[in-house]
Amino acid sequence: MSLTSCHVHFTPSSDKVIHLSGSLLKSLQLSGKKTVHLKLGKESITASLKQIKRPGHHLYLSAGVRNTIRVPKSGSVSLLQANENDIKLGPLIGVLTDTSARSTAAPFGSRTGFIRQLLRTGESKAYFFAFTPRDINWQRQTVYGYFLNGQNGWHRRTVPLPDVVYNRLSSRRAETSSSIISLRERFVRHKIPFFNWSFFDKSDVYQMLDQDLEALQHLPESINNPKPEKIKEMLTKHQFLYYKPSAGSLGIGIYRLTYHPKQGYFARYRRNGSNVLLRFTRFQSLMRMLQGRHGSGLNRYVCQQGIRLVEIDGCPLDFRFHMHKNGENKWVPVGIGAKKAGRGSVTTHVKNGGSLLTPEQALSRTFGDRAEDVLEKAKRVSVKLCEAIERNFPHMLGELGLDIGIDKDGEIWMFEANSKPGRSIFTHPALRAQGRDSYMHIVDHCMYLSRFKGSEE
Ligand SMILES: Nc1ncnc2c1ncn2[C@@H]1O[C@H](COP(=O)(O)OP(=O)(O)O)[C@@H](O)[C@H]1O
Ligand SMILES: [Mg+2]
Repeated sequence: MSLTSCHVHFTPSSDKVIHLSGSLLKSLQLSGKKTVHLKLGKESITASLKQIKRPGHHLYLSAGVRNTIRVPKSGSVSLLQANENDIKLGPLIGVLTDTSARSTAAPFGSRTGFIRQLLRTGESKAYFFAFTPRDINWQRQTVYGYFLNGQNGWHRRTVPLPDVVYNRLSSRRAETSSSIISLRERFVRHKIPFFNWSFFDKSDVYQMLDQDLEALQHLPESINNPKPEKIKEMLTKHQFLYYKPSAGSLGIGIYRLTYHPKQGYFARYRRNGSNVLLRFTRFQSLMRMLQGRHGSGLNRYVCQQGIRLVEIDGCPLDFRFHMHKNGENKWVPVGIGAKKAGRGSVTTHVKNGGSLLTPEQALSRTFGDRAEDVLEKAKRVSVKLCEAIERNFPHMLGELGLDIGIDKDGEIWMFEANSKPGRSIFTHPALRAQGRDSYMHIVDHCMYLSRFKGSEE
């Protein structure tokens, strides 16, 4: 396998012919060959080979070739040579997403900026495009993709099925529909790497790690769909608990339950934009309140040991570790944000009054000169946690947003793992470079999965 970069040009001829500059012919060791097998994504063609005089690495594709394998545009791209007669153009990488509110300028609604930035990061290395489930034609094995047009806008091109799919479908509900389940299976059948596989439910992650001793020591004790007696038992054992919807996000529906032997039971939560604290003398009254608010929805709740987080100004602090797989298929912490809870808030979400800090700012105020050691330890643990999730999950993962707590003894805890992590930490001015790095890691990992990686010539 060898990788060569070249410049692609288009010619009008309808013949199935490609012209290569002398130095490109030489570096691909094709001198003297009459034909070559050229591939893009899952499409291929056998074309006759001609040489043209021109310095540098140039490839001229006739309309006959270009239209058959559906090359989306001219410009710089890579050539991967699997064996002497097989050359792959690309890679062709698709970002799968969807939205209900779309327009010509913003075909992916509020996600358009994110998609545009990702495509911009990737376009110098690959044919990067975005698509929705509706854009796939499985009979023809093509995708009607969205490419950047150079003026900040979009143009559509029909391309073959891609080499890699980065999944950013945004609806948890849609992702469990039979059409999306079969879509994913089709990509697998075509041997097209597809990551991340799906949203995670909290209970799935806790269950996945339940037998993994290395990860388990960083997970608060968690029970899926606990019976009231179990909640009571855990309250007595841990004094306080988090009771949260397994498929929830943004802190919605989360309760912090506390037990004081003398004062009774407390429930803290967010209601209509403000923080509420209720006291109950009897456990049954607490449960009645929760059942009244959620009914059978409580079957999809998890109950978790509360962790005494480090605090700043009396407000708990936790961390988002934005983890990526890099171009060598290794997990790395790429962006780390610290989040301080709003006063009286159960969670640290900025929407609930929380504020964003750099981890250095936050940890120096809580651990003094131990701050650096604590951060290094948290990074090591985050990598281990990602590795543990990956080895216990049957599908491909390349990006995870871990919600990490650090307790007063400096121990590291994971509250949840998000498989479609948001990017709000990167709005902090000191974390913008990490945000760019995060895009770069997605691109590099797609390159790795496409196998367009290796010694460049
Ligand atoms: N077991 C826990 N102990 C202490 N704090 C917790 C615990 N679980 C959650 N939290 C706090 O609540 C926040 C939201 O919880 P999380 O599990 O991430 O749910 P969501 O999906 O709503 O983000 C966390 O970031 C953390 O600040
Ligand atoms: Mg969270």
